Amino acid sequence: MKSLDIGISCDLRSAFGNVTSGPEDRLEEYDSEHTVNSIAKVLEALGHRPRLLGGGRALVEAVLAHAPDLVFNIAEGVGSRSREAHVPAILEMLNIPFTHSDPLTLAVSLDKSMTKRLVAARGVPTPRDVVVKELVDVAKLQLAMPVIAKPLNEGSSMGIRKSSRITDASALTEHLTRLLNDYQQPVLVEEFCTGPEFTVGILGTGAHARVIGVMEIRPTTGSLDTFVYSLEVKRNYLQEVCYDVPPKRAPALLRRVEEVALNAYRALDCRDVARVDLRIGPGDEPMFLEINPLPGLDPVKSDLVILTRGLGMSYGDLIGGIVESARARYQL
Ligand SMILES: Nc1ncnc2c1ncn2[C@@H]1O[C@H](COP(=O)(O)OP(=O)(O)OP(=O)(O)O)[C@@H](O)[C@H]1O
Ligand SMILES: [Mg+2]
Repeated sequence: MKSLDIGISCDLRSAFGNVTSGPEDRLEEYDSEHTVNSIAKVLEALGHRPRLLGGGRALVEAVLAHAPDLVFNIAEGVGSRSREAHVPAILEMLNIPFTHSDPLTLAVSLDKSMTKRLVAARGVPTPRDVVVKELVDVAKLQLAMPVIAKPLNEGSSMGIRKSSRITDASALTEHLTRLLNDYQQPVLVEEFCTGPEFTVGILGTGAHARVIGVMEIRPTTGSLDTFVYSLEVKRNYLQEVCYDVPPKRAPALLRRVEEVALNAYRALDCRDVARVDLRIGPGDEPMFLEINPLPGLDPVKSDLVILTRGLGMSYGDLIGGIVESARARYQL
């Protein structure tokens, strides 16, 4: 197969080292050198010629100077809720092929409420929620306690702590005040699902989209009822959670989890890869929480990589699968 000149677009956490304002977890979504170098190594082993493009202006200058055959896009972008769409929009404009979803899907998916409305319109079940733009009388929110409050346009558990599960009005008011102030964006308040939590890996595009596996994320101690896969838990994952691949649950439930995840992927026109987070809600129904069309690709600790490892699939197979899906779309 033809060897390609593959640029890697990325926003490295180290590039923001001098940014000190904002919440403590402000850089959580950005990638490490280790992740980017690991992707480059796989691409090289597959016979391609990888080069780092960075993100922002550096990327624009690099692709204008020399357009790659394909961009492996993991750039999270900076600033607005459309940040994940910035790089793909530029590549699309310059007619440069790129992996992962297009700008529309990436922009929508970073807004948890817009995403939920789109998947719900296709019949995908998702918890009831309200978007809070400014401090309101929480007694007027027509939601059943407990709820979870999360920043509307973040990922990587930014703004999500164990304390994000809220059981009374005064705690909710306090939490909303803090989130609105710290993250300077609306807050999604959502009814809390107390059942098992799953994440589903999907590869491919359109008719070729397929579930590669389901992983249950389970607290090692404590009750499932109060479990939140929060930032504290993700930072201490080896102690606080177990990952079951495949989950030890009824086959019928897992089939339903796969079906809901794939329907959400299709409703959002995702391409090449994504990870869908779900939790079992009332009536044993898998509820869609959110989708990650730019899932973390840390070779050790990202959820999708833990999932594929559990399936016996190598990191190389995962990265290779994303590239193959993109090549097939562009007939490269
Ligand atoms: N409605 C809900 N009911 C129960 N738990 C929830 C709900 N929404 C979120 N959670 C918990 O909070 C965690 C983080 O929420 P979510 O996946 O929406 O955030 P994220 O920061 O975008 O995640 P990621 O790190 O996957 O990008 C979930 O994995 C789950 O444990
Ligand atoms: Mg999530």
